[in-house]
Amino acid sequence: MAYESIDVRKLAGCGAEVLGLDLNSLSNRQWDEVQRAFTEHGVIFFRDQHLTPEQHIAFARRWGTIDVNRYFTPVAGYPEIAEVRKEPDQKRNIGERWHTDHTYDQIPAMGSILVARELPSHGGDTHFADICTAFDALSDGLKQTLRGMNAVHSSAHIFGAQAKKNHGDLTFYNADQVGDVIHPVVIRHPLSGREALYVNADFTVRFEGWSKEDSKPLLDYLYAHATQDRFTSTFQWRPGSIAFWDNRATWHRAINDYHGERRLMHRITVAGCALEAAS
Ligand code: SIN
Repeated sequence: MAYESIDVRKLAGCGAEVLGLDLNSLSNRQWDEVQRAFTEHGVIFFRDQHLTPEQHIAFARRWGTIDVNRYFTPVAGYPEIAEVRKEPDQKRNIGERWHTDHTYDQIPAMGSILVARELPSHGGDTHFADICTAFDALSDGLKQTLRGMNAVHSSAHIFGAQAKKNHGDLTFYNADQVGDVIHPVVIRHPLSGREALYVNADFTVRFEGWSKEDSKPLLDYLYAHATQDRFTSTFQWRPGSIAFWDNRATWHRAINDYHGERRLMHRITVAGCALEAAS
């Protein structure tokens, strides 16, 4: 169905730019169509928006309850907003490996709204992968095998006390609030009804009933498959850019190629629902 009140430009690989609107004054028709574009494309990108932290929070609340990230540094005065910051003297950045947010939770976040606050002079792009289309492109036999499987997701090796030595110059909180959860490897997407490959390189540690060693070759195969050019896109940030991704339909990773410069983003995660297996 065509869009009438907004301009939706599909990107090759993953996502769409949504233009011709002001997020601070959406008409009812535009709001309906933005929701439809989000379901259709999995990640939507906006340009030339000017959201204050209060307006960022208000926009997030239109989508649902805010799911405050317990590990990230909050923005001063705005506990609902997480800082995604890299300072000029830092070597590490947040989110460098392919992942999707909060899969270590029993009820993972639905989506994340990332607002650019301070950008480096070059680089600092974010890559996105379409995990619904990537799943569809697997062979029928592998799809059927994966539909019957579950995977263990954990925050412990990323945010737990024993992971601190790997953080380098990153700071995370609540190292004691970590643990494992189990999700189906293939979920039925709650909005689109499509099947999605719900494992990711950061937080999935193994398939349920399999050792880490046995799981690794198949997980690595799935990660290599879903990150081919045909399923991915690159978002180049500009002042006023916003990305809103569905954590059940996409993976993302932040490119760490701007050493010596600051990059500061504000992220709000919107609460999701319990996930159901595809079959
Ligand atoms: C994230 O992984 O949530 C941050 C992505 C980015 O900084 O581009």
